[in-house]
Amino acid sequence: MVREQYTTATEGTHIERPDDQNVYKIGIYGWRKRCLYLFVLLLLVILVVNLALTIWILKVMWFFPTGMGHLRVNQDGLRLEGESEFLFPLYAKEIHSRLDSSLLLQSTQNVTLNARNSEGEVTGRLKVGPKLVEVQSQQFQINSKQGKPLFTVDEKEVVVGTDRLRVTGPEGGLFEHSVETPLVQADHSPELRLESPTRSLSMDAPRGVHIRARAGKMEGLSQKDIRLHSSDGMLVLDAETLCLPKLAQATGGPSGSSEGLYEICVCPDGKLYLSVADVGTTCQENSLVCL
Ligand SMILES: *[C@@H]1O[C@H](CO)[C@@H](O)[C@H](O)[C@H]1NC(C)=O
Repeated sequence: MVREQYTTATEGTHIERPDDQNVYKIGIYGWRKRCLYLFVLLLLVILVVNLALTIWILKVMWFFPTGMGHLRVNQDGLRLEGESEFLFPLYAKEIHSRLDSSLLLQSTQNVTLNARNSEGEVTGRLKVGPKLVEVQSQQFQINSKQGKPLFTVDEKEVVVGTDRLRVTGPEGGLFEHSVETPLVQADHSPELRLESPTRSLSMDAPRGVHIRARAGKMEGLSQKDIRLHSSDGMLVLDAETLCLPKLAQATGGPSGSSEGLYEICVCPDGKLYLSVADVGTTCQENSLVCL
């Protein structure tokens, strides 16, 4: 502090005023004083610049009594109105969309949702990638609104719980192994084909096989023998006409020798039997089989 000149003289006491050289001067004079003024001036300048900078920062950063920029602090919490970027993890308990808009999560890379257990191991994962949507979990299930499982996948099986499973691709469905179903039916297509183009086809039903063509004919074509074999029952051809159009015809041989030849006889119920051939018919003699 700059002090006024202080003299050792005290009022009331008559002491001779000392000479000039005896005046004891306390204070800052000369270049020191100028330096001090300069310093005070510098301080003032710094103060002003500081104040201006503070005001500028407040203005640039949009400081308000309620918040900063697009960030508002109110009683319920924070409200950020602009676009926000979090470069590191963001911890939140819930994420909701606004009432009037949908929620969009997007990335040019994968978007992953992980479920972890208390040890931090991933127990379930949904990954949406540019080329692949991947679900990693023990079971994947889609339920209807009422809670009915519509599509369930686990390690053992895939269950489609919808009323109908439709495969619309032109190649149809491909099953590497068996297909188990109580009914195979043509839907809108006019015909149903059961085909094994390069191998055999077999139908096996221990309790009976019924083939029925209600309003059409039935045809069986085979390159080799057709064998109808019944181990316990009989073979019934139940039709008004029975034709064997290509039956070979005999062209006469040594007459009188009927050894090893038979004639076909028919019982009244249509049953056929063979009877040893003779000069005349022998059906009557052997008709006991008809009883
Ligand atoms: C995205 O996910 C796929 C499939 O899991 C993976 O192969 C790929 O490396 C992932 N990409 C990035 C950038 O993590």
